[in-house]
Amino acid sequence: MPGKNFLFVPGPTNIPDRIRRAMDIPLEDHRAADFPEFALPLFEDLKKIFRTEQGQVFVFPSSGTGGWEAAITNTLSPGDRVLQSRFGQFSHLWAESCRKLGMAVELIETPWGEGVPLEEYRRVLTNDSTHLIKMVLVTHNETATGVTSDLVAVRRLLDDLQHPALLAVDGISSIGSLDFRMDEWGVDLAVSGSQKGLMLPTGLSVVCVSEKALEKSKTAQSFRYYFDFSQMSASNAGGWFPYTPAMTLLRGLRESVDMLLEEGMENVYKRHARYANSVRAAASAWGLELCAKDEILYSDTVTAICVPEGMDSNDVVRNAYNRYNLSLGGGLTEVAGKVFRIGHLGDMNELMILSALAGTEMALCDSGIEVTLGSGVGAAAALLRSSS
Ligand SMILES: Cc1ncc(COP(=O)(O)O)c(C=O)c1O
Repeated sequence: MPGKNFLFVPGPTNIPDRIRRAMDIPLEDHRAADFPEFALPLFEDLKKIFRTEQGQVFVFPSSGTGGWEAAITNTLSPGDRVLQSRFGQFSHLWAESCRKLGMAVELIETPWGEGVPLEEYRRVLTNDSTHLIKMVLVTHNETATGVTSDLVAVRRLLDDLQHPALLAVDGISSIGSLDFRMDEWGVDLAVSGSQKGLMLPTGLSVVCVSEKALEKSKTAQSFRYYFDFSQMSASNAGGWFPYTPAMTLLRGLRESVDMLLEEGMENVYKRHARYANSVRAAASAWGLELCAKDEILYSDTVTAICVPEGMDSNDVVRNAYNRYNLSLGGGLTEVAGKVFRIGHLGDMNELMILSALAGTEMALCDSGIEVTLGSGVGAAAALLRSSS
């Protein structure tokens, strides 16, 4: 098919040319004497993306899932209790990974489309008077349902109850796109991945660790080797890595961090909010419901849109791809066939959004979901024109 693919899945995202060019270089000697001059400022600047001064950032060669594993195995011992809620495929998988890594998971089933169940967390943590729960997990942005949870409220809850559990956050589809403040919100472990807001190829997980979590890692008994914070920390201190780093991706990461900081994190968040509003305006013009149950939960990086009863969202995704070279996200497991997803994070602009919406409304009609062609595009365009 001529022309380019329109990539609107919620990760991997579009890679800006500037980042592609930064990575189009010969491989480098990661033991060269001047390597720390590259690595040390990168570690420092990454902290600005997580909004931390106290925390330490580790870059592992893995997808985001490896970052989950690093967060868990470095700070917990087998049998430790953790509190997690399941309201989408990614919160489900993080809980599963904890279980398989030997943790006792207190799992709160929450309807998909809702966010972290604060009252349930309060009940469980209040009953945990002996502080058996060592970690509270929060999937900040549930990519499967387009739901963003309130991290500040979870922190407040832990503080109110004076509960010492670590607060661990999956920020894989939020960090670098949505407001996130490691220090101010008292987050202990924050996991991110390269192929979303950081606009890079898949292959890096970036984990930010508070002083409290680093202290815990000194006594945690879970087996770990590749993802060990202590060996990473010891090497990173001098500007090195304990094993061959993913050099090409690190060059891209340098450029990505520069781009985000040049734009300014507040502007990055605003841009994502504005594009998300325009996608939601389109969904509303089509007369389609969002999977997220409440406005307060709407994600500014991904919108999961429900198809009418009796229709199959897989048809929309298939038609978008086969007929218009537009990649949309499908519904996962519990919402398979019921929702399709538009990712609007990373390197994006107004006309890219409008193109994706044009392709989506054509694919909707092709799939028997009669929407008025141009209605979503028109609503989004009006919103984009009237906001900055
Ligand atoms: C919220 C969230 N957590 C975890 C993951 C898994 O990350 P990865 O596929 O990079 O391992 C994803 C991937 O989409 C995600 O969106």
